[in-house]
Amino acid sequence: MLQQIASTRLVRPGDLGAISALHARVFGPGRYARSAYRVREGKAGTRSRFCRLAEMGDRVIAALRLTEVTIGGTQGAVLLGPIAVDPQFAGQGYGRRLVAEALEDMKANGVRLVVLVGDELYYGRFGFRPVKPGQILLPGPVDPARVLAVELQDGALACYRGIISACPGQKTGDG
Ligand SMILES: CC(C)(COP(=O)(O)OP(=O)(O)OC[C@H]1O[C@@H](n2cnc3c(N)ncnc32)[C@H](O)[C@@H]1OP(=O)(O)O)[C@@H](O)C(=O)NCCC(=O)NCCS
Repeated sequence: MLQQIASTRLVRPGDLGAISALHARVFGPGRYARSAYRVREGKAGTRSRFCRLAEMGDRVIAALRLTEVTIGGTQGAVLLGPIAVDPQFAGQGYGRRLVAEALEDMKANGVRLVVLVGDELYYGRFGFRPVKPGQILLPGPVDPARVLAVELQDGALACYRGIISACPGQKTGDG
């Protein structure tokens, strides 16, 4: 039998139920304590135009959420996360593909810096490096060694210092 290949695309409002269900399967109830959720907490509408997913037929098998943020009040940055790949499809390159495509999209659309809380072992391949401890702050407890950033414009990191806050006016979604 031919193996079906997943396709990727930008998230649409009608996808949000399937993405929430994927997050619930991958992260369980602990997902609400994750840094990216805390950044968006209390802000109505924080799903950015960059969010992507992978689907096989009509089944969402991976989703990457991105949130436009200010850092110390400066615009032009995006917070990456969470990324979730259906365990049945883990290790098949879907996570890598979504991140690589989203970085390309954001660069083409003027984003200067992408920040996340995660594992350098995984994200280092895309150019993410640890940020100097204390330079970029998130609400709630975060291991400073896991705060990583990649510049999409040369020298961008030096322009950002302070607390991350979700930009208002992005579309609503629970994913
Ligand atoms: C982590 C995750 C996003 C990776 O996506 P994926 O599609 O399974 O992985 P890919 O096929 O893109 O990449 C596989 C590679 O990543 C590595 N990898 C996978 N998870 C990793 C992790 N947590 N830390 C470091 N490396 C990891 C694999 O060893 C493999 O390495 P290789 O390319 O050198 O062989 C996915 O497995 C997942 O959703 N996990 C559960 C949720 C989670 O932890 N999300 C991340 C925090 S928001």
